Amino acid sequence: MEQQDLSNYRKSYEKGELLETKVPEEPIELFRDWFLVADQSDMVDEANAMTVSTIGLDGYPKSRVVLLKRYTFEGFIFYTNYNSEKGRAIEANNNLCLSFFWPGLERQIIIKGQAEKIAENMSDGYFESRPEGSKIGAWASNQSEVVNSRDELDEKLKYYSEKFEGQEILRPKHWGGYLIRPISMEFWQGRPNRMHDRIRYTLNEDFSWKIERLAP
Ligand SMILES: Cc1cc2nc3c(=O)[nH]c(=O)nc-3n(C[C@H](O)[C@H](O)[C@H](O)COP(=O)(O)O)c2cc1C
Repeated sequence: MEQQDLSNYRKSYEKGELLETKVPEEPIELFRDWFLVADQSDMVDEANAMTVSTIGLDGYPKSRVVLLKRYTFEGFIFYTNYNSEKGRAIEANNNLCLSFFWPGLERQIIIKGQAEKIAENMSDGYFESRPEGSKIGAWASNQSEVVNSRDELDEKLKYYSEKFEGQEILRPKHWGGYLIRPISMEFWQGRPNRMHDRIRYTLNEDFSWKIERLAP
């Protein structure tokens, strides 16, 4: 294949600014402001899709996209299979990085934090709210394990669909939520001439937040 040279891909970022004199004391408030804009914007599809990076058991970082399902003053929640590759990685090292990139708004948010499993009844509550097909899928897929064929997956789905027919589908114990409590949150707003605005919040020992501007 011909080599692909992307060195002429260039773009000027002109959609907004981020000033330390105007940001709130609590980063979750800025997150909420940005998230609401992203969620309502025609320029952003799936505003709640975020990249989650873990440190794997093999020592390599790994990133994958998951859906943010809730954010509060405590932190950020997503749901997954606790036995998946990410689940095992978190078991060994619960330091995580979450990131959002909303190109239509020229914005990026990078969050570092520590993950913990949420309470079982919270995971039950969310599982209960999911469509039946997703519930069956949670039973049928041993997320991140090697499968022999598509047929094998389809057969497992069929097996669990029949098994649960007419019955309440309870949450498998290996499926649930993680809460990531942030220790730092960095907000990036694209600006012209590569002079982007970067504001980083770092959690202090007294749980207040230090606010700093970073060079782009
Ligand atoms: C848009 C999008 C949303 C996704 N949402 C989730 C999710 O909420 N939970 C999840 O476990 N996987 C989700 N996935 C799949 C993950 O990216 C990943 O393939 C899966 O979690 C297995 O990752 P692991 O093997 O690193 O544990 C999503 C993928 C995409 C592209």
